[in-house]
Amino acid sequence: MIYFDNSATTEIDPEVVESMLPFLNEEYGNPSSKYYTLAETAKKSVEESRTSVAELINSRNDEIIFTSGASESNNFILKGISDYLYYEKKLGNHIITSKTEHKSVLETCKWLEKRGYKITYLNVNKYGQVDKDELEGSLTKETILVSLIWGNNELGTLNEISSLSSMCKDRSILFHSDATQVLGKIDIDVKSIPVDFLSFSAHKIHGPKGIGGCFIRKTKIGTKQKITPLIHGGSQEFDYRAGTHSVHNIVGFGKACEIAKREMNKNTLVLKDLETILIDQIRAIYPSSQINSHLTHKIPGVINVTLPGINNEILIRKLRNDVAISTGSACSLGEPSYVLKSIGLTESEIYTTIRISLSKFNTLNQVNSFINQLISIQ
Ligand SMILES: Cc1ncc(COP(=O)(O)O)c(C=O)c1O
Repeated sequence: MIYFDNSATTEIDPEVVESMLPFLNEEYGNPSSKYYTLAETAKKSVEESRTSVAELINSRNDEIIFTSGASESNNFILKGISDYLYYEKKLGNHIITSKTEHKSVLETCKWLEKRGYKITYLNVNKYGQVDKDELEGSLTKETILVSLIWGNNELGTLNEISSLSSMCKDRSILFHSDATQVLGKIDIDVKSIPVDFLSFSAHKIHGPKGIGGCFIRKTKIGTKQKITPLIHGGSQEFDYRAGTHSVHNIVGFGKACEIAKREMNKNTLVLKDLETILIDQIRAIYPSSQINSHLTHKIPGVINVTLPGINNEILIRKLRNDVAISTGSACSLGEPSYVLKSIGLTESEIYTTIRISLSKFNTLNQVNSFINQLISIQ
């Protein structure tokens, strides 16, 4: 199987599996238990993994909170900040996001809307990027949080998170970004980019499923940002998130981050080369094809392309035993993509659009074989 659906999930790295095995076998201690070696080893391993995640984004260790994944992180930050700032601090009730966020942000915003919050959904340009002026024009005295995706999961296009978050920082408005698709793929330095919160997930970077985290910035003097927890019931994760640590998953996530940091430059070069070859070949086979991703400001290896006259579902089914590609997000199958609608595609264009998302495990041979299959089914 040629797996080109790496925005949905990724093959777990053998080095990650290896790192997890002891914690599924003999090292089964609970890191919250006290004093005996089995517990201390688990605790030490959780903290080492926290360091690996922190090093990938240049944060402090105690700014990394482990969760079950990016959906939980998005829910936690949005619900937790809204609750704390509006109900406890009596500040505003306005949140700004965009129309092309992941459903775990959009559905959370809809839920908040029903509970009295005002939500602004910003438009995006034809590549899926938010306009800085539109954001500026939407900020009000009531705005407590801005949440904008860093790299879009269907398009691969990047938002200008540095300038968008700086604008919010200048006005003392908290800024969250869903960084699920960019963690480990582009350089993220929270010391130079003033985001307050990030969400991310291990299974997009060759780690295990069911584990992820968020970055929650501390103040300059090291105090914690207060947020209402999503999961109450224990003091784990600095009181932000209760529940016994999933030690094997946390260790796997830490290892995946360590590998991503080590290999990022090399992987980026390979992915950009493969992507260029794919785009050139697709354009040669389908001269009327249209690349919807931003061509430079993008996640390496992710291509969203419209192939006029080629129904995407029929194409995917024809290839299904040999190649895995996708029509878009794995979380919203069955309905025409709201992301593609938001960038201005018509319904017939949406039904002829595919997403190809590569990873470090893909090869030139696989790209050539995929292209040959496209030619043969034409
Ligand atoms: C941008 C984005 N945010 C959030 C998620 C949800 O991540 P998880 O599967 O870890 O809950 C995904 C997964 O597809 C995603 O692409």
